[in-house]
Amino acid sequence: PLVSMTEMLKTAKENQYAVGQYNLNNMEFTQAILQAAEEEKSPLICGVSEGAAKYMGGFEAVVNMVKSYMTAYNVTVPVAIHLDHGSSFETCAQAIKAGFTSVMIDGSHYPLEENIALTKKVVEMAHAVGVSVEAELGRIGGQEDDIVVDEAEANYAIPEECERLVKETGVDCFAPALGSVHGPYKGEPNLGFKQMEEINKLVGLTPLVLHGGTGLPVDDVKRAIEYGHAKVNVNTESQIAATNAVKEVFENSPNQYDPRKYMGPARDAIKETVKGKMRDFGSAGKA
Ligand code: G3H
Ligand code: ZN
Repeated sequence: PLVSMTEMLKTAKENQYAVGQYNLNNMEFTQAILQAAEEEKSPLICGVSEGAAKYMGGFEAVVNMVKSYMTAYNVTVPVAIHLDHGSSFETCAQAIKAGFTSVMIDGSHYPLEENIALTKKVVEMAHAVGVSVEAELGRIGGQEDDIVVDEAEANYAIPEECERLVKETGVDCFAPALGSVHGPYKGEPNLGFKQMEEINKLVGLTPLVLHGGTGLPVDDVKRAIEYGHAKVNVNTESQIAATNAVKEVFENSPNQYDPRKYMGPARDAIKETVKGKMRDFGSAGKA
């Protein structure tokens, strides 16, 4: 069934595992990710960025596609369709209207007061219709779609500010930027576990979200789960797996022209990547 993230993340935090958010890029991603979740018996969050939604024909087209494949594959595990890094109140409202069950309002580039005010407004609208909300503080480095944050701009969330944002807005989950990066890491990831521990104590039961799941060592993810993370976002790793599979096809058969012959292997690679993450994050077998 299509659900919000609220229950799945609450249960995950209580039981010390994380539900993955796997980003949709096209039909093959949608198919692969839904099949992975069903086969692993894992709850699932389908992440959709504004750019990816546009590419796939808009929010409504995405919702219809996800629903269609849930029916086609007899998906029984809980699935949330989540707007990733929503840039405004209006965009969140449009996604909700189209049938998204969850939204992220990314006010992380605004001053604290504005981020709180905007997040609160989105929470009021979303909760009125049973949709869950994620917020962010601090700035996650790297690039995702149109959001580019260079190293100088990237900054760590401040624990006291996190406590205020969570308590004053009533968000369902919260992403503190603590050194994780969108896209591949340059060098060793260096997550702020000290701040993480402190933030987790301050926000109580609210599940934390780890962006930039690509390239993080499993031990780092496990430690983040110990410190309250119940959602981990993965996009680039599936994209790389898909692209490598396509490259391999063309290395072996440069004259291949049937998209099914290269997109099929890409889809298989995405599915294997996602299944591996579901086991790593501990969500496999939890639905
Ligand atoms: O919001 C999406 C994620 O944070 C994805 O990060 O592409 O580095 O896996 P990633
Ligand atoms: Zn992100």
